[in-house]
Amino acid sequence: MSETPLRIGIAGIGTVGAALVNILAGKADLLAARCGRAIVLSGVCARDRSRDRGCDLSAVEWFDDPVALAASEGIDVFVELMGGDGDPAHAAVKAALHAGKHVVTANKALLARHGVELARIAEEKGLILNFEAAVAGGIPVIKTMREALTSNTISRVFGILNGTCNYMLTRMEMEGLSYEACLKDAQALGYAEADPTFDVEGFDTAHKLAILTSLAFGSEISADEIYVEGISNITTEDIEAAGELGYRIKLLGVAQKTASGIEQRVHPTMVPVAAPIAQISGVTNAVAIEADLVGQLVLSGPGAGGEATASAVSGDICDIAKSRPGHQQAPALGVPAAALAPYVQARMRAHEGGYFIRLNVYDQAGVFASIASRMAEEGISLESIVQRKRDGKTRSPADQQTIILITHETTEQAIRNALERIETDGHLAAHAQMFRIEK
Ligand code: NAP
Ligand code: HSE
Repeated sequence: MSETPLRIGIAGIGTVGAALVNILAGKADLLAARCGRAIVLSGVCARDRSRDRGCDLSAVEWFDDPVALAASEGIDVFVELMGGDGDPAHAAVKAALHAGKHVVTANKALLARHGVELARIAEEKGLILNFEAAVAGGIPVIKTMREALTSNTISRVFGILNGTCNYMLTRMEMEGLSYEACLKDAQALGYAEADPTFDVEGFDTAHKLAILTSLAFGSEISADEIYVEGISNITTEDIEAAGELGYRIKLLGVAQKTASGIEQRVHPTMVPVAAPIAQISGVTNAVAIEADLVGQLVLSGPGAGGEATASAVSGDICDIAKSRPGHQQAPALGVPAAALAPYVQARMRAHEGGYFIRLNVYDQAGVFASIASRMAEEGISLESIVQRKRDGKTRSPADQQTIILITHETTEQAIRNALERIETDGHLAAHAQMFRIEK
């Protein structure tokens, strides 16, 4: 056992920070035994000094300024758990690295915007930048991609990356609860971001996907070029229609290599009910990685919540405690930041796949045939077409019908062209709902 403890400073004592403080205190002996040295909490920072946080901070130095904590002489590792892609998180992490401190963060928004810059500074300084908790909460997916799969060539990575959305979609489907009620519960349970729009509009998934894409393909992180749709437009009618035709709706993040570049997209997706990813319910996340040597690897586990996320943060701290000073550290993004390839974006309109389309149409002669012919004009082959009569479930007015189309593989461009024409034809009583199907 080393005589030298590892001194930690934590900025952000909220859901994750408070859980981490309790783990470091409650498991101090276990962590010391496993790391070969004690891990000591030396400083903390948050906005409101008077708030009860459900953890004991009486023996710890309090900082009002995260940047001051980050550069403090009294710490070896700066743990950033405040959130946000700008300051003070950005300034504090940079200050910590410039002051020679290793950094652990759970902040995907920060990494999605500044990850390459921060990785470069860490590498120049010979420091560790760890961020396991930033993607999929308690699931060790960063370590898996950065270390365990080093000799694989990855072709696709996709998954359920937002616990809040999966929790909401699960409860809306299973319990018939409203969107608003489910979101409120997710916030109360500590799953949602400070601004829950990030969760429900798909941006949080996009931030995580951008990090996974960089690790998978050795490219620069590019969160701004992701096609993003959230779950706020999903209705119980969509969920019911999906269920009746053997599908479940999941918010997926997907990154794959195509002939024209890297496709990154986040959207509500129809997955067959029997598919493993369809079984992932509640706050659970799942990440599927397709690679040449391992085939498909699926990791699943808790994607949000204080303890599960703090588990990943403490694992990152332990890796630093076990590292040997003076030895070259592994690059944060798997390859040195300077060697990352520029990100080349594939056009979303070129996306190829099956589609699930729900149309509320006026119940008039010829509508069905007109829709089918618009699809045919775009060369879209239909796997099935279902017309549903008005019933208690659809809630359609008496003069309307619901038509559901499932297509064989086609392109996004063809689908958009066909839907544009169908809208112009004037048969629709409401905008078309279109979902991509993921194999
Ligand atoms: P949170 O509960 O909102 O806590 C944020 C903490 O940061 C609070 O203690 C807050 O202080 C402090 N803070 C915010 N702005 C500050 C400032 N300008 N100066 C000093 N302190 C400041 O957030 P959280 O859920 O723990 O999330 C923390 C990070 O982990 C985020 O990056 C989030 O995306 C990530 N994450 C969260 C989860 C999850 O399940 N919650 C899972 C994975 C990753 P006060 O308490 O005084 O307001
Ligand atoms: N708000 C995020 C989620 C927290 O719901 O998944 C975990 O990153």
